[in-house]
Parts: sequence; C-alpha cells; structure tokens
Amino acid sequence: MQIRVLHGPNLNLLGTREPDIYGTITLAEIDASMAAAEPSVTLVPSQSNHEGVLIDAIHAAAQDCDGLVANFGALTHSSYALADALASVKLPTVEVHLSNIHAREAFRERSLTGAHAIGLITGFGPASYTLGLRALLDYLRTQP
Ligand code: DQA
Repeated sequence: MQIRVLHGPNLNLLGTREPDIYGTITLAEIDASMAAAEPSVTLVPSQSNHEGVLIDAIHAAAQDCDGLVANFGALTHSSYALADALASVKLPTVEVHLSNIHAREAFRERSLTGAHAIGLITGFGPASYTLGLRALLDYLRTQP
C-alpha cells in the first residue's frame, strides 16, 4: 500500500506558526508520527505553498498511489482547482486539519476540497493525521 501525504500552504511553518492554534509540533514530526503509526505502509509526504504543485502531485498520485491524506491549508476554503483535481482523479482521499475548521472564522467552515474526500478529520491536532491515515487504510482494506 502506497499513500500520498500532501501538506499545503504555510504548513512548512508548523512548530512556530501560531502555536496557540497549531501547537509546536513540526511537519517533520507529523510525517514521522504517521510512519510510526503504520509501518507496513509506504508513505510519500511532501509540502508545497503552490496550488499548481499540489494539483500536479494529485495527478501523479493517481498513477502510483492507493490513496491520499491531505491538508490543503487555506486552499481548502478557496481552491476550485484543487477540488476539480480531486474530482478528476477519484483517488480515495481523507482530508485532515489540525484545528477544528468549524470552530473558527466563518470562511474556514466551507471546505471545497472536502466535497471530494471520503471524509474529513478536523480538530485533533497532530492526531488528525494519524486518525486520517487509519481511516483511509480502513476504507481501502474493506473495498471489494
Ligand atoms: C488548517 C486550517 C486552515 O483553515 C488553515 O488555513 C491552515 C491550517 C488546519 O490544519 O487546521 O493553514 O488546514
């Protein structure tokens, strides 16, 4: 099983970015915690601040990965292009967020990308990623 993990804009700053909201764990630590949680799975993580790079990564993942765990950051709320990419490839996707996007500013409540995901996990801090990965693997393993 090979799973793509995509981190969107500003998530490279985790550790120092608004620690009252996102905590102090770094992106490298999040990637490591996912790998430790599911050692039998090959994870392919990357981060980009650029919408087009994320779109290309979704297209490529559809060729060689079984599923996708993604936190598209603020693009979650604004990117029709990312939503279209997910709709185009139909790669099983779980969307994750560190913070609870329903408990913050109104603009964060809408997820354009989430409409094309199997489901969303939001608000559990770094555990959102390991929970998201587990949910995706559960889904993939129970597919006929
Ligand atoms: C986020 C929530 C988004 O609204 C925000 O723009 C982020 C991080 C989260 O993980 O909580 O960059 O996706």
